Amino acid sequence: MSGAFHFRLLTLASFCLLELQAAVVPINSALPNAQPLQDGRIVGGYQVDIEKFPYQVSIRLDSSVLIHICGGSIYAPRIIITAAHCLKGRYASTIRIVAGSSTIANSTEEGVAVQKLIYHSGYVKKTHDNDVGLVILKTALVYSSTIQAIPLAQSSALVGTPAIASGWGKDDENAQQLTNLLQAVELQIVDSEECAVQYAVNNYVITDEMICAAAEEGGKDTCQGDSGGPLVVDGKLLGIVSWGIGCAQHYPGVYVSVPYHVEWIVQQAAQYL
Ligand code: ARG
Repeated sequence: MSGAFHFRLLTLASFCLLELQAAVVPINSALPNAQPLQDGRIVGGYQVDIEKFPYQVSIRLDSSVLIHICGGSIYAPRIIITAAHCLKGRYASTIRIVAGSSTIANSTEEGVAVQKLIYHSGYVKKTHDNDVGLVILKTALVYSSTIQAIPLAQSSALVGTPAIASGWGKDDENAQQLTNLLQAVELQIVDSEECAVQYAVNNYVITDEMICAAAEEGGKDTCQGDSGGPLVVDGKLLGIVSWGIGCAQHYPGVYVSVPYHVEWIVQQAAQYL
């Protein structure tokens, strides 16, 4: 991997080098039909309108232009739920939130300024533990057909339950660019023990506060740039895009469990409602 490529990924979707480094290691797969090539976006998804995903936001880094770094979900007019790894090491003054837009390519977008970044005190970069955080906005979002909150799932979903993830992330783990138009992909909840067995090969631990999701037919996943975004079951936020080895290759995607962290979220959010 060239240095320039490395750098580019860092700027595009920070903290996601794990996927690329580990992706070259061939490992047995519980997704035997995984396709190495995908023609959709996210990976193996399809283009959608923000009106169908009004809870989806784009988290931007403000460096003369606004650069998409992560996805997020609207919890309340001033509260966005995302991944801790999207926030750690950043300052509120450098982050803006764009809601109500299907595209990340509109350079006239100014977004909403941020008052505070909060991430879980138990977040560990190396293990991806507790990869949950909140972005507190300076001004409230005005709800509309393209901007709406999503309720939190209070309980976990059974293995095989259909779930939908969305975002502007890469459409292939080797892609060098994000996708400009919002994409969604239909996945299923994967058995945590099976997922744990797969990841154990690489010395990663799937904890109780993580959820794995993939598509039985393979070829579908979230990818770099989707992090922090929603995994939705029955209209409720069940997971937050967190990590994985590669994208849509041999491993399920790993999501933060919202039911596990629901108390943390409610407690942290209380004073900003
Ligand atoms: N860490 C990535 C990001 O920051 C998300 C990776 C999700 N990977 C996966 N295979 N589902 O955007």
